[in-house]
Amino acid sequence: MKIILFMAQSVNGMIARKNLSEDFLSNENFSDFKKLSEKCGCFIIGRKTYDAVTQYNEINFDDVNCKKIVVSRKKINIKNFIVAHSPEDALEKADAEGCRSVLLTGGATINSAFMQKNLVDEIIVNVNPFVLGEGIGIFSESNFENNLELVTVKKLREGIVQLRYKVVK
Ligand SMILES: NC(=O)c1ccc[n+]([C@@H]2O[C@H](COP(=O)([O-])OP(=O)(O)OC[C@H]3O[C@@H](n4cnc5c(N)ncnc54)[C@H](OP(=O)(O)O)[C@@H]3O)[C@@H](O)[C@H]2O)c1
Repeated sequence: MKIILFMAQSVNGMIARKNLSEDFLSNENFSDFKKLSEKCGCFIIGRKTYDAVTQYNEINFDDVNCKKIVVSRKKINIKNFIVAHSPEDALEKADAEGCRSVLLTGGATINSAFMQKNLVDEIIVNVNPFVLGEGIGIFSESNFENNLELVTVKKLREGIVQLRYKVVK
């Protein structure tokens, strides 16, 4: 299965404010998230992202037409979401749903959990024209490193640049 990490970030790699708000990022990123999720057929998010997005953002996950997986160690139920308890469990569940690719889309902690296990094949970042001195970065501090191969650079609307990389394994 192909695993693509997609994130919208400031120029210095911030994906949210300390209070979890993403108000400095353009809504333009949501249309990419929706497009890529629907192309993959499935997106995977961490439980805190589910909570933050439903609290702070204009984004409505119901508008995205694909399988939706939330990862949590807890026994929880979320309407219209499949709950998985680890990265591997999320991928097994996506596979059981017939997905051949998935979009992993934050936040920092779940991104690092997948990277540490060397599960990510591609990274797409939408770099927004903003710098933010304090906040949540694209990865939580964690012990991994990878070389990347640049695949495409696209100029999008509202000053966003989309970088697509292959993870060298
Ligand atoms: N700009 C963007 O593109 C973008 C995209 C997504 C998210 N965000 C932002 O990112 C922020 C949230 O990031 P975050 O790092 O705080 O949280 P997160 O990664 O979204 O979620 C963390 C939670 O995921 C679960 N989890 C993480 N690793 C796990 C593992 N190995 N096994 C099982 N469960 C695991 C745990 O849930 P439990 O505590 O329930 O066990 C953990 O508390 C929010 O502000 C959100 O708005 C931004």
